[in-house]
Formats: sequence, C-alpha cells, structure tokens
Amino acid sequence: MHTPMTPILLTVYPDECDAFGHLNQASFLSLFERARWEMLRAGPGMDLFDRTATWPAVRKTVIEYHAAAFPGDVLGFEQDLTHVGRTSFTMRQVARRARDDALVATAEFLFVCVNRQGRPVAVPQEFNEFMAARRRRAGEVHRLTVNGVSLEVEVRGDGPALIFIHGFPFERSIWAHQVAALDGWTRIAPDLRGMGHSDAPDLGYNMETYAADLAALLDLLGVDEVILVGHSMGGYIAFEFLRRWRDRVRGLVLVDSRAEPDTVEGKRNRDATAATAREQGAEALAETMLPKVLGTSTLDGEPATVERIRAMMAATPVSGIVGALGAMRDRQDSTPMLPGLAGVPTLVIVGDEDELTPAAQARAMADAIPGASLVVIRAAGHVPSVERSVETTDALLAFLESLP
Ligand code: MLT
Repeated sequence: MHTPMTPILLTVYPDECDAFGHLNQASFLSLFERARWEMLRAGPGMDLFDRTATWPAVRKTVIEYHAAAFPGDVLGFEQDLTHVGRTSFTMRQVARRARDDALVATAEFLFVCVNRQGRPVAVPQEFNEFMAARRRRAGEVHRLTVNGVSLEVEVRGDGPALIFIHGFPFERSIWAHQVAALDGWTRIAPDLRGMGHSDAPDLGYNMETYAADLAALLDLLGVDEVILVGHSMGGYIAFEFLRRWRDRVRGLVLVDSRAEPDTVEGKRNRDATAATAREQGAEALAETMLPKVLGTSTLDGEPATVERIRAMMAATPVSGIVGALGAMRDRQDSTPMLPGLAGVPTLVIVGDEDELTPAAQARAMADAIPGASLVVIRAAGHVPSVERSVETTDALLAFLESLP
C-alpha cells in the first residue's frame, strides 16, 4: 500500500556502494536514519528529543531489500508509525526509487524511549502529535497495529473527528459515500478485527475488545474526542465505547442498531449461525443473510448493490464471523444507559424496509435518548449507507451541522 506522505529524497553516492556497484546494506541503514532526521528537521526540529530529554533507542530492526539501488539514484523515504505504546513506538519506513516509484526496501524500527540514565520514559507527546498530523494530512488507507492486531484504516480530511464503525459481516466500504463526502471533518473508518482486510485472530472477540481497539486507534491517530457513527453491531460497539470512554464522545449516530441485548432465542440463533459458518463457510452465510439485510427496493431494483453486499459478506473470514457472533450474543443490555445519554447529541437513522432492526424499534430507542432525533430513510433496508447513500449522507450532514 503506497502512503502518499511527502517522501524525504536522498541521493545514493558512489562511496555508499559495494564492489558490484549496489547500495551497500550498511549504508542503507544510514540512509534510513538520515531520512528520519530530515523528517524531524523539516518538522518540529532535530532537537525535539533533546528538548524533551528523551532518547529513542533502537531495540529491533527488520529490513527487507526488494531491489538494488545504484550511484545517482534518488530514493524517496516515507516514514510512518505503526504502533505507539507508552514508552515505545514502531516506525515503518519505505524507500522507493523516485524516477519510477519502484519499491527498493521496507524497514521497521522498534524504538524504546529512555532518559539520560537509560530508564524507559514516555514517548514525547510532541513527537506523537507530529506523526499523527502527518498521517491525517496524507488521508489514505493505513495498516496500523493497535491492541495487538493489525487493522486496515482509512483516514481522510481534517477537523473534528468522526469514527465510522461498520456492522456484521461487513467492512468499512459500507461508509464509502459518507467518508468521501463529509469535507471539513476527519473521517476515520477502520475494518474491525475479524472483518474486511484487518487481522482475523481465532479467539478474543467481545464488545470490550472491539471498543478498546477503537480507543487505541484514536490514541495512535492523536484524536482525543470523536463522534461515534455505529452501524448495527457498530452501534453495540459504540455503546460499549460510551460505557468506558464517554468523556471522549462528542456525538453519537446509531444506524439500524438497537440497545436491547439478544433474547434467549436470539442467542441460540447466534450459535446456530456460527455452526453454519464453520461448516459451510462465509458464502453460505451470505446467501442466508442477503434477503434479510437488504430492503425489498434494493433486492428488486439494484442488482449491483445486491452483488456488492453479497461479495462483502462472503469475503469475511470465518474466524471473524464466529468471533462477532459470540460477541453479539454476549453483549450487555444498553437500554438502561439511554436516558443517561442526555448531553450526548444523538441521531438515530433507520431504513424503512429494515427487518432486522425495524423502524419502530429505532423510534423507541430515539425516544428513550433525551434530545435524540430520528431520520427514517425511505426504500432502504438494514444498510442505508449503501442502499440510499446520498440520503444517509444528507441526514448525517444535517446532524453534524446542528452540533454546537
Ligand atoms: C449487523 O448488521 O451488525 C447485525 O445485523 C447485527 C445483529 O445481528 O445483531
């Protein structure tokens, strides 16, 4: 994946090359280091770490060489953080030949920040913020490691932040129209663990973990406060996020979601669905779910959307499907928290043809949240952001513009 951050351009000199005329690997290591210093020089200053009495010590280096470089070649070095802990961070660097964009080498450096006595100290906030701002400006798709998993995340724009949380078994592209359209906002759209292009571990799925993934992602992006936009299961995750990090939430949008937990029968169905997915795969699940997920208007009149949603569901890893089903089965009842959401501006959106989370249920949820508004999207089923993307974006925009 090519991240379009402005690269640092460095020229390969003859004295850096070996007997065969190739850029020597030890010299390459120096160029990676030079590129890091240049990035700081052009940004917050080379003395950033001196100012904060912190030294980033290299703990581990992994380099892959993909192509040879020769004297006179100009290499473009891109720098990004793929992980930030309390005292450590991982910087990924990519070197490409400037004239044809050919990939020459990729590297990962794990740094631990230490003070002058060699004791671990916190990663300087200024450095974190500088790297996060570069990433936001780049506005692209990133592979970021948070909470022990690698997630694919789209980040676009600048301004107050929105995080789009997709439902089950979908991925972030259900928000494509909204993410493209909402200029003036930082739009963050991750593939949740187990879905889309993110890692799909075999175990460890529950609402707390999904919410913790999002909190860690916001930390990594340098975002303190956010508007949660949760679709269906994404709404369940939004409730969990509110339970733990309410002070970070500036607003809430619930799209075809619900606050009630699963009934006893609903829990049994989750287990039966998980068994089907294990035995017959995601394609079988997609076939069964498709007629419930899309509205009749879409099913009858929009073959391309039907195919797109079918393919999306069928591509979901089985471990992610089984994990999400278990997490939904075991989720808490969020109805008791609805009256307490006064002060969190809330919009509830629902498709008028949704059978999974019907409009009447959405209306009851909006009624229970003080000050919440409801928008019913006509001729849409359970996924209005795709089935009626323009109307959904308009509803979202009107809500965002009404915020204080
Ligand atoms: C979803 O779209 O996320 C699911 O339909 C939610 C659920 O099954 O409860």
